[in-house]
Amino acid sequence: MKYLVTGATGNVGSLVANRLLDAGETPCVLVRDARKARKLYGDHAEIRVGDLAGSRTDLTDAFEGCDALFLVNTGPDLGERDRACALAACDAGIQHLVKLSTLDVKTGVGTGRWHARGEAAIRNSGVPYTFIQAAAFMSNALSWADSIRDDGVLSSSTGEGKIAFIHPDDIAEVVVSALSHGKALNDALVITGPEALSYREMATAIGAATGSSIHYEILSDADAMAGLSTWADRADAEALVDIWRAIREGRLATVSDGVQQVLGCPPKSFGDWIGENISYFVDRTGRSR
Ligand SMILES: NC(=O)c1ccc[n+]([C@@H]2O[C@H](COP(=O)([O-])OP(=O)(O)OC[C@H]3O[C@@H](n4cnc5c(N)ncnc54)[C@H](OP(=O)(O)O)[C@@H]3O)[C@@H](O)[C@H]2O)c1
Repeated sequence: MKYLVTGATGNVGSLVANRLLDAGETPCVLVRDARKARKLYGDHAEIRVGDLAGSRTDLTDAFEGCDALFLVNTGPDLGERDRACALAACDAGIQHLVKLSTLDVKTGVGTGRWHARGEAAIRNSGVPYTFIQAAAFMSNALSWADSIRDDGVLSSSTGEGKIAFIHPDDIAEVVVSALSHGKALNDALVITGPEALSYREMATAIGAATGSSIHYEILSDADAMAGLSTWADRADAEALVDIWRAIREGRLATVSDGVQQVLGCPPKSFGDWIGENISYFVDRTGRSR
């Protein structure tokens, strides 16, 4: 099997590429910046430079000679990008396209609408596929680190609603299993963390791990949007506020046994993730607030 990994300079794609390397494979990584990829993979991966927003012809050239493709597309245009990638995958003879998708496809919330368009295009293309419909990532909690570390506060418009964040390692393990197993489900696999927790409960867990008290501040949607407008573009900001509203309203509390079914072991807990990432939540001297 020859694997092609997209998003390999990002969160999940890099975990997938590294797992393939650890298994003795030499994956291809499709990246925009060869230097960035070389820093991560040296000569161990075959680096192909390309753009997922490129033409079907260019994407076909980029996918040539590969059997299995891990596809990570982002942003409001990802449906169109997934479509071009799926058609190129057919042209290049890809036998299995594994798409990183979201659980929110089920509810049509936030980025779920974008991914639903991408999934439909892939289904219609004829390429054999597996959709990994992941819950929100535990690593999203890194965006809380500055305010927790500096002010002892987590602010959120999710209220007391709950969500079963998933550890990125579990996503990568499931993706690698799907890729290397070789058999396309032609269906979606729903994966979540082991339990749905509120943001207040997650703040309390971080506080317990750092030995500090973290105040949980409930925001309105308008306040959340105002905070996002300083760093996110409008489409991403609207999608996030939509997701947070759905969490608050109890619409995203799904817990699935997908990880257990695929990997034969339970998903990693939020406590596991905190233990691995505790340094982000304490100051440079190692002290919590
Ligand atoms: N965060 C969540 O809670 C969550 C939950 C479920 C699903 N998802 C989905 O997961 C995906 C994001 O995964 P992630 O967090 O692993 O991604 P990420 O860390 O944001 O990385 C994105 C990757 O895509 C690459 N990329 C972006 N535009 C590209 C282009 N035009 N051509 C080639 N490569 C391009 C980036 O490369 P550069 O280094 O060149 O920028 C980077 O490697 C999205 O589809 C999101 O909707 C996220």
